Amino acid sequence: MQTLKIDGAKDREGLALAADIIRRGGLVIFPTETVYGLGANAYDADAARAVFRAKGRPADNPLIVHVDRPESAEEFAYTTELYYRLAESFMPGPLTLILKKKPNIPDAVTAGGGTVGVRCPIHPVAHEFLKLAGVPVAAPSANISGRPSPTAFSHCVEDMDGKVDAIIDGGECEYGLESTVALLLWDDEVKILRPGAVTAEALSCVASKVTTADGLAPGETPLSPGMKYRHYAPRAPLYLLDGKREDAAAYIKGRIKDGEACLFICFDEDRALDAPECASVSLGGKDDVASHAKRLFAALREADTYGASHKLDAIYTYMPGRDGGLSFAIYNRLIRAADHTVIKV
Ligand code: TXA
Ligand code: MG
Repeated sequence: MQTLKIDGAKDREGLALAADIIRRGGLVIFPTETVYGLGANAYDADAARAVFRAKGRPADNPLIVHVDRPESAEEFAYTTELYYRLAESFMPGPLTLILKKKPNIPDAVTAGGGTVGVRCPIHPVAHEFLKLAGVPVAAPSANISGRPSPTAFSHCVEDMDGKVDAIIDGGECEYGLESTVALLLWDDEVKILRPGAVTAEALSCVASKVTTADGLAPGETPLSPGMKYRHYAPRAPLYLLDGKREDAAAYIKGRIKDGEACLFICFDEDRALDAPECASVSLGGKDDVASHAKRLFAALREADTYGASHKLDAIYTYMPGRDGGLSFAIYNRLIRAADHTVIKV
């Protein structure tokens, strides 16, 4: 399949063509403020099945449905008063709300479940594309299943060239982590199934009660099906170093002395680590958590690219804080990428 490349910022005809491809049952990758999405017409079961095939995604993991404005969800989901209150504060933006679905959304989209995730992106190109499409667009992250989510056009080309009809270039994604996924419960309660840039603290300004599904403990059944898969795994094993930055540096130096070939996903300040044998990729300044989130997936991909042409035994990075906010979302992604391997230093 020849994949059409469209410049989302300049090519209005290209966007109209991409919208047309969606309506006819094709697959289009589009940028959002979180990560790039692999979109299909949410009313078209065959197109939804093609999304699963292109990604190599397990069929029991439901897709999020994207809309141009919160009210568009009325067409295919049972909205509630709490939905509109949350939408008022956080939509458009990096939040997905799970609602009861109407029958017009095929089982192929929701993996047979009775609920549907609704998301209204704020990225201007996503908004324009969704408006032109005129139908809700079901889209998971546009990576091959198990790889880091794509946060740049080049990542989408790397994973999906030749497997989709079109890829719209919208530059680098602003947040770099996927949306917060939240379930709406009775009594004004919101349960976070996947942490993201819309934090528990922010949600609790609108809902009376906000809880977080842990889903991280071994053996626990996650409410969000996607939480049970190993995600974002780089090819070389990734280890999270838990302790002071100096102690992490000393640990890595020790491993290098033992002959290990390693790569350090670090902060700008660590470039003075004095371990020139160790390759490194920076997530930004040590206190710039937004930059850590934005660059995390690209860093994991860079580590893979490095590993493809060099011997690489291990990738190290810091164990993020778990104290809430954006750090908790970073922790949630990294602990999976590392397959729960944390080293105390
Ligand atoms: O930021 C994002 O959310 C990106 C962009 C493209 O919008 N999309 C994304 O989709 O990350 P995906 O499929 O990679 O992750 C969606 C997550 C999965 O963990 C899935 O299990 C969960 O949301 N999910 C989707 N629909 C659900 C539902 N009805 N009930 C529970 N969890 C659901
Ligand atoms: Mg994904």
